[in-house]
Amino acid sequence: MKLNFGIGVSSYQVEGAYQEDDKLLSIWDKLGHEGGIFDGTNSDVAIDFYHRYEEDIILAEELGVDSFRLSFTMCRILKEDGSINQLGLDFYHRVIDCILKHHLTPVVTLYHWDLPVFLQEKGGFVNRDIISYYEKYVKAVADSFKDKVHIWQTFNEPQCFIGLGLQGDEHAPRLHLPLLDMMKATHNVLVCHCKAYHILKEADPNCVISFVNTTPVMIPVCKDKDVEEYCYNKMFTSPKDKTQFYNVAVFNDPLYLGKYPDDFVELMKKEGFNPDQAELDDFKNCRPDRIDLNLYTGTYVSKDKQGKIVELSEVKKKDMTTFSWLVKRPEAVYYGPKFFNRRYHLPVVISENGAPYEDKVIKNKIHDKGRISYLTSYLKEVKHAIDDGIDIQGYFYWSLVDNADWAFGFSKRFGLVYIDYDNDLKRIKKDSYYKYQKLIKKING
Ligand code: BG6
Repeated sequence: MKLNFGIGVSSYQVEGAYQEDDKLLSIWDKLGHEGGIFDGTNSDVAIDFYHRYEEDIILAEELGVDSFRLSFTMCRILKEDGSINQLGLDFYHRVIDCILKHHLTPVVTLYHWDLPVFLQEKGGFVNRDIISYYEKYVKAVADSFKDKVHIWQTFNEPQCFIGLGLQGDEHAPRLHLPLLDMMKATHNVLVCHCKAYHILKEADPNCVISFVNTTPVMIPVCKDKDVEEYCYNKMFTSPKDKTQFYNVAVFNDPLYLGKYPDDFVELMKKEGFNPDQAELDDFKNCRPDRIDLNLYTGTYVSKDKQGKIVELSEVKKKDMTTFSWLVKRPEAVYYGPKFFNRRYHLPVVISENGAPYEDKVIKNKIHDKGRISYLTSYLKEVKHAIDDGIDIQGYFYWSLVDNADWAFGFSKRFGLVYIDYDNDLKRIKKDSYYKYQKLIKKING
């Protein structure tokens, strides 16, 4: 089978032009303007994808990937009165036309964290009004792009924007909401997915719809079957309190199995949250067509001398990246898809995988050995998984280009292409760009 290769970017992280063509302010623009980004930057300009998208699309074409993943932002397409901003749709038409012109398949994420501030001021995902705004936005997009875009991802990583943004300081809008509000936001996101699913399928019945997750994968490193069972069960344990919304079961069981996990239903009852029955019933009608997983890292699990199952915390220097949470664990792309295949019986696309390293420009070249080793070892595990019958259909490297890494700004570089922020945002291909190019040819022949 031919593996579908791609790269990804997202609106806030690359576009810039933060006010152009009547774009609304997002919660991330706001955080940047308030000095809330670690390196003191904001994404007013980012890497200026808004004006230089063709340059980046050509870089993807030359790389030899099949697909270009990007996100649309509600901030460009919605107006505060709920009407549609045609200028925003026009911009995305220019980009999608360009992607198609360069023989790439567009994969569009409909929500990658950059909520308009005006919607956050109404309560964001906690307020049920979000559902009708999201419906209007998706309807405008579906009608406008049904002949050009056939792969849609309704949400990117609700684990992050709910698990980190609504209950902590890590992500915008940096709230400390109680458990009940976390539950409401979770339910509203799932309802928004369902509404989008119906709208998109009505516009284009053959389109592919997905829902993008992330999770650190529990990786068995000893052959005993009970260690693998421990890993599987731990990954799909549902949250017990508001700090545990960085979770996959609560977001996926409803869409793929048609219901919330039983213990989460109990927890909702305890909190006095009774979701609408018709909405719960509708979950069964909006099952995504595949599973998209953003897989970066994992935890090794083994047994100690007494035979007790233990999670290993030791990290060797060679496995470190410039993010402490992102330790090189290539087997994550073996066991992540294996466990998701097993639970939900659908193919997996690895919709993001990559890592940040200290990239230095030496004579106009970037010898990013760490990223090359990361990429090579993860792709080896993808191949291993496919050879073992695990259903993986695609692999997208994150990211094509260095970009605004959310709370860390431009200080973390994930790109295959270096952005020289001091020199007119010049794009320079890193050694890993050429390596990925070779690996794609080698794997797909
Ligand atoms: C994912 C996001 O969480 O990982 C990307 O979908 C992001 O947008 C990437 O850039 C890197 O991790 P983070 O959370 O540190 O930016």
